[in-house]
Amino acid sequence: MKRLKIVALTAVLSFVASVVSVKAQDAAEGEQIFKNNCAACHATSDEVLVGPGLKGISGRRPIDWIVKWVHNPQAVIASGDKYAVDLYNKYNKAQMTAYPNLSEAQIKGVIAYIDAQAAPVAAAATGAAPATGAAPAEGSSNGGMMQYIMIALLLVMVLVLVALLSIVSSLSKLANVSPDSPEAQQIPLFQRIAENGKKIATNSAFKTGAALLITLLIGKATIDAAYGVGIHQGYAPEQPIQFSHKLHAGQYQINCNYCHTGVYKGKGANIPSANICMNCHNAIKRESPEIQKIYRSLEKDEPIQWVRVHNLPDLAYFNHAQHTNVGGLECTNCHGEIAKMEVVQQRSTLTMGWCIDCHRKTDVNAKGNAYYDKLVELHNKDHKETLKVQNIGGLECSKCHY
Ligand code: HEC
Ligand code: HEC
Ligand code: HEC
Ligand code: HEC
Ligand code: HEC
Ligand code: HEC
Repeated sequence: MKRLKIVALTAVLSFVASVVSVKAQDAAEGEQIFKNNCAACHATSDEVLVGPGLKGISGRRPIDWIVKWVHNPQAVIASGDKYAVDLYNKYNKAQMTAYPNLSEAQIKGVIAYIDAQAAPVAAAATGAAPATGAAPAEGSSNGGMMQYIMIALLLVMVLVLVALLSIVSSLSKLANVSPDSPEAQQIPLFQRIAENGKKIATNSAFKTGAALLITLLIGKATIDAAYGVGIHQGYAPEQPIQFSHKLHAGQYQINCNYCHTGVYKGKGANIPSANICMNCHNAIKRESPEIQKIYRSLEKDEPIQWVRVHNLPDLAYFNHAQHTNVGGLECTNCHGEIAKMEVVQQRSTLTMGWCIDCHRKTDVNAKGNAYYDKLVELHNKDHKETLKVQNIGGLECSKCHY
């Protein structure tokens, strides 16, 4: 009987331990997310890259604000939030990428990771606790969904514990009955155990608890799965030749459209053929095994099999020239800092929501475009808001769908 008690207690204790270690896990996942998504623009120290250094961010901003900001920086700026507007102006109106599909828990994980980087020793000692500890002053609704789920799970565990203990006590009662007492002889031992088990299984608190637990687990799995479908944000496949944008576009400042020749004039940006590489590599680094691969491709007349990174489904129509040339957008608006990447990675979600969101918020680039002059004039007559892409048909289904 003791053993049963011990098993029950260990189960509960290990669960509590796992709740505590969630924080550490979050920080580990946070590191992954930070490196894949944020590191191109942010350092965990004070150093300014494209955006501010994020050291001490959990003390600087309430967690609610950070979550809102990461989900949609443009919306926070548009809402007139003074801190956001000042920051945006200070960083020359550089647009931070939006990450609508990072969960609140994931963002907290990123913050925990940043805090742990700032104070590795203290964080290790307290299990990365300062992550949330620094913020509650301003945001009391901090905890969010995750905390509620944890509390609910704990309650369920307590119920299970109570149920288990009651099994234990009735079993030990049973064991204490002398085998030849009339009581014990009336009902065989196995039957009594079975009855006790049934009683517990029909105990309504136990049933509700178990149902709640199962619902929570299924719910979480479904939400996770739904968010992931068809979204390849962060996708960075290995390429057949170790071509580095950081080296070519970053260090050597080769223009994007030197290689992506269609990007200002056509629908597709184009991936350069080996001939374009040869403009330089017939002379540069000939002996490198990676460069030899280019020669081999030309000799055999087989194009280099680059792995495609960005890929919209066939049902959607996207045109580069419309955005880069007419719209005046930078590559970084949609692709992030390619010039800092060793390996190209998809930075935006490329979902319909992503396209629409930008069309709602972005002003039409009407400067020097006589075609728009009249439109802008008409629009400004009866609208306070500036002319946005949505006003010129940017939300019409047929513009993006064949
Ligand atoms: C493409 C570059 C870029 C990426 C990628 C990026 N940011 Fe930013 N971030 C910025 C810029 C630039 C600012 C400054 C405000 C502005 O100009 O919009 C900023 C501001 C911030 C701030 C406010 C900083 C402060 O000092 O108050 C936080 C927090 C933040 N980013 C978090 C993140 C997180 C978390 C990620 C990754 C999930 C991320 N950022 C990815 C560019 C980026
Ligand atoms: C010297 C030639 C060269 C230059 C310059 C160059 N690229 Fe590339 N780019 C490539 C090659 C080759 C690939 C395919 C291999 C890969 O993905 O790394 C590629 C791939 C890409 C992709 C991913 C394509 C896909 O499959 O979805 C993007 C986005 C991209 N480049 C953007 C840029 C941007 C932005 C710049 C300028 C900052 C730039 N490139 C400059 C050669 C170049
Ligand atoms: C405008 C000139 C230019 C073009 C075009 C160009 N490269 Fe390069 N590439 C360079 C320079 C410069 C280096 C650095 C050489 C060095 O480190 O000494 C380099 C280095 C490399 C390296 C690293 C080689 C090594 O072993 O260190 C690879 C791989 C490479 N290029 C692949 C490509 C591919 C693939 C293309 C075509 C898509 C391409 N390059 C187009 C200029 C160019
Ligand atoms: C408005 C957002 C946006 C901007 C700005 C943008 N791209 Fe793209 N880019 C995309 C999308 C979306 C795709 C995927 C297209 C598809 O699958 O049909 C893509 C795909 C690509 C590809 C893969 C090949 C292709 O044409 O499908 C390359 C290379 C590329 N972009 C380079 C660039 C460069 C270089 C710039 C800047 C001069 C740039 N892009 C600006 C959204 C953008
Ligand atoms: C600004 C461009 C844009 C506009 C406007 C737009 N869509 Fe889309 N839509 C997309 C892109 C890109 C995708 C593919 C990415 C995705 O599945 O999220 C898509 C996907 C879809 C899908 C397929 C979803 C799936 O999972 O396969 C449907 C259905 C759809 N759109 C319907 C519509 C309807 C109806 C409208 C008009 C009310 C509309 N769209 C307007 C860009 C747009
Ligand atoms: C970073 C902001 C941004 C994103 C993201 C973006 N667009 Fe656009 N889009 C623009 C701007 C700005 C224009 C206006 C260009 C102009 O002046 O004609 C535009 C125009 C268009 C138009 C022409 C609309 C018209 O009525 O003339 C289409 C179609 C379009 N975008 C499709 C897409 C699709 C599909 C996606 C997603 C895969 C997308 N866009 C993502 C900014 C964006």
